Amino acid sequence: MGNIAIDGPAGAGKSTIAKMVAKELGFIYVDTGAMYRAMALFMIKSGISTDKTEEISATCKDADITIKYENGEQVVYLNGENVNGQIRTEEVGNMASVSSANPDVRKKLVELQQKLAKTTDVVMDGRDIGTVVLPDAALKVYLTASSKVRAERRFKELTAKGVECDIDVIEKDIIDRDYRDMHREFSPLKQADDAILVDSSDMTIDEVAKKIIELYKTV
Ligand code: DC
Repeated sequence: MGNIAIDGPAGAGKSTIAKMVAKELGFIYVDTGAMYRAMALFMIKSGISTDKTEEISATCKDADITIKYENGEQVVYLNGENVNGQIRTEEVGNMASVSSANPDVRKKLVELQQKLAKTTDVVMDGRDIGTVVLPDAALKVYLTASSKVRAERRFKELTAKGVECDIDVIEKDIIDRDYRDMHREFSPLKQADDAILVDSSDMTIDEVAKKIIELYKTV
């Protein structure tokens, strides 16, 4: 037994799949993107804009981020406040992509993630789980899909929520975010040498979850 690391670009379906795999195996699901989003929310609330990032190192010291599990769901607390309802916006996602490039932000959140994985078996998803956070994970998966398919999925999600949006803008945002995540200096998004590549472009959610569980049973 051991931990499962799932990395990949935004919108590849990591969190949906990781949640299903965790449930099936009785593991705890850890969504590290939510932690970076909570930190980004703190930056936005502190008045830091995406083009003025010099203050991020100093500001992140004042953000106390903790994780609790309530009714089987991960809840992120920012300075004592449950922020789950505030972190899923495009504004927070874009800021998270910028502020997560900061080494002080990463150091603080990686420590929290490693502590969580020490006490229990986890399925953890993010960008650097297989490469940095859990280098000894029993199974590492790099989950991806084409930017077009990811944009279509995001568009459907937003439209279902009644949010008006433009699919071309969404795809451009995804491409920009991929570029930033893959080219940053610290812990860039990349497939770990020992990770298994799964391209979900032409797969259903159930097929991907089943594949990962099968892979886990063979390690
Ligand atoms: O997976 P997500 O969209 O919720 O992540 C938001 C941002 O956080 C993403 O642009 C990159 C960053 N992130 C990261 O740098 N490292 C992680 N382990 C998880 C997320």
